[in-house]
Amino acid sequence: MLTHPSATVPKHPLREGVLSLIGNTPLVRLRRLSDRLGHNIQAKLEFLNPSGSVKDRMALYIIEAAERSGWIKPGDLLIDNSSGNTAISVAMVATVKGYRSLFTVPDKTSQEKIDLIKALGAEVVVCPTDVPHDDPRSYYESARRLARERGGYLIDQYHNPLNIESHFATTGPEIWEQTDGKIDVFVAGIGTGGTLSGVARFLKSKKPDIRVIAIDPVGSVFHNLFKFNELQDPGRYLVEGLGSDTPCGALDMTVIEEIVQVDDRESFASARQLVIEEGMITGGSSGSAIAGIERWLKREAGNPALNIVTVLPDSGMRYVSKFLSNDWMAKIGL
Ligand SMILES: Cc1ncc(COP(=O)(O)O)c(C=O)c1O
Repeated sequence: MLTHPSATVPKHPLREGVLSLIGNTPLVRLRRLSDRLGHNIQAKLEFLNPSGSVKDRMALYIIEAAERSGWIKPGDLLIDNSSGNTAISVAMVATVKGYRSLFTVPDKTSQEKIDLIKALGAEVVVCPTDVPHDDPRSYYESARRLARERGGYLIDQYHNPLNIESHFATTGPEIWEQTDGKIDVFVAGIGTGGTLSGVARFLKSKKPDIRVIAIDPVGSVFHNLFKFNELQDPGRYLVEGLGSDTPCGALDMTVIEEIVQVDDRESFASARQLVIEEGMITGGSSGSAIAGIERWLKREAGNPALNIVTVLPDSGMRYVSKFLSNDWMAKIGL
């Protein structure tokens, strides 16, 4: 009997360490949501990256680029400001490769995330959320000061062009291949903007008429910047990982067709519905993406079914004490 050549390739080959598991995440059709909305909604499950979020891609990419340039070597200190996920990803890559790491986080960051960062051997400095980004106490300025004082290498996720490049090189091509090019709309929340910008640049290089819809929490500055070129006073919101009180260099606004705003209530309700409806235990920003799709589709009513791809950036396991807790939701009045 002839043996097909693929029979000799093991389906589940032995992998060399945790970093080899970053990327190549599955794309899954959200069946009930698609049926309910009458469009084909597909989600890239970034919470299946080994540390539990999309940030693993950027962390590995930036650290390996710095190594290749000779800017860092094992034993050095890596620093960034983070809403938690970047810290967990950088700390994971750092511990595997033998670096030390230190992160500043805003005080709204969930305890699960802070404990995880520490468990990975990193230092954590908690900073006030309610101060402007240029205040010396902010997590943004504190990271810069600590990098100067401690001689650390600043990852600089908010302004580092390699953040965008990491998604142009990995997430974008994966989505293109997994959809076989059958994609009409790409939707993603903006935190640093790296995921949205890198994926959108890649997809538009293949198919220029793909529509790119960005999701921004009510209270963040991106929506007004995009629509009116105006920097508003930032407001307060509880969803983690999305939005900003200042423009950032890792966001390429030229790839965006529209920015849809969603509030905390919609984001958390949608994230909880993803758990019930699809069995997907994802974070609040995944809820923002789905709520944004639903809101955007209301204006597209009557259109033929669209192939819509979005990204579910992190796991709901990080928010068991927050929006997945009925007590917490009641406490914040939702
Ligand atoms: C939970 C969560 N969702 C979404 C994002 C947005 O990703 P990006 O920074 O690539 O825009 C982040 C980034 O911090 C995040 O932590």
